[in-house]
Amino acid sequence: MKKIGVLTSGGDSQGMNSAVYAVVRSALACGLEVYGIRYGYRGLIDGDMEKLSAKSVEGIVHRGGTVLGTARCLEMKTPEGQRKAVENLRQKGIEGLVVIGGDGSFAGAKVLSTQYGIKVIGIPGTIDNDLAYTQYTLGFDSAVATVANNVTLLRDTMSCNDRTCVVEVMGRDCGDIAIYGAIACGAEAVLVPELGYDIDAVVKRITHNAQKGKFDNIIIVAEGIRSDGTLDKGHEADKVMADILKRLPDINVRAMVLGHLQRSGDATVTDRLLGIRMGDLAVKCLAEGKTDRVIGVKNNVVFDEDMVEALSQQKTFDRTLYDLANSLSAY
Ligand code: ADP
Ligand code: F6P
Repeated sequence: MKKIGVLTSGGDSQGMNSAVYAVVRSALACGLEVYGIRYGYRGLIDGDMEKLSAKSVEGIVHRGGTVLGTARCLEMKTPEGQRKAVENLRQKGIEGLVVIGGDGSFAGAKVLSTQYGIKVIGIPGTIDNDLAYTQYTLGFDSAVATVANNVTLLRDTMSCNDRTCVVEVMGRDCGDIAIYGAIACGAEAVLVPELGYDIDAVVKRITHNAQKGKFDNIIIVAEGIRSDGTLDKGHEADKVMADILKRLPDINVRAMVLGHLQRSGDATVTDRLLGIRMGDLAVKCLAEGKTDRVIGVKNNVVFDEDMVEALSQQKTFDRTLYDLANSLSAY
């Protein structure tokens, strides 16, 4: 193999740039040429790619977002789009591809490898932490840090006004950002999709706290909390606030959505190191002729695993952490 490509796809996440940096530098160290493909599968289909040098990735390790750009590209789901993508890779002589993205991007990678024979390695880049085979995805740690830091700021005004605030966080159908964030900022309650929409538990906690003389509460809600599985990003905080007000009409309550802030700002050191280690391993896999692998991490060991096998796994819910969040926040 002489030439490889790298793309970032789907929702961006901190650590994607660290991975791109390592893919480029490690590829060059292995004597491989490396092409950066812009805007994920969109760029692959449009042939929007350029050869990268060591200098191309200078100073990007810490930066949020992705220097390659990202996109959601419906055309990649069609055989016509896939054929165009493969044609562009073949025309450039690119034999191996590193795909950095979430489960959707991995579905695209799987098509390229299983149906068209492109050598593909996936790196889990998403703040959601919703992939079963890996303990952490790139960007999760940074998103949790943003939740914890911002909610800590929010406490100042909420506490001096004896106010409750419902804070909506991202994660799609996965409650990890909500639970880790809630623990890190000492939230009084947390609602996650894995356990359904238990508004009664939240009202009970607020009432109990009020009886003990505490009137300011932080309620973290994951955007995917509806037990019917509907995702209403950006509106759950308002709905929860309305449901609380129905039951406790005299409560002083506000709602806010942290939104895309969670995908912004510098990557934490943990995400930088993880991105670099994952990027390096992805290149080593390709250099050894391995294909259809995804990179993951468990207990601080970065590993590669068969893509189909990894993606067939079901994520298990960490009940212990949820219980910890609840027990620590009881007043
Ligand atoms: P993420 O990778 O963050 O989960 P998406 O689910 O939006 O984000 O997927 C990113 C992109 O991956 C999609 O816009 C599309 O281009 C590609 N993709 C997703 N699912 C498939 C699929 N089944 N087949 C081919 N490409 C897919
Ligand atoms: O998958 C990452 C993620 O940030 C989710 O947590 C969120 O639901 C979604 O992407 C937001 O997508 P967009 O940037 O397209 O609004």
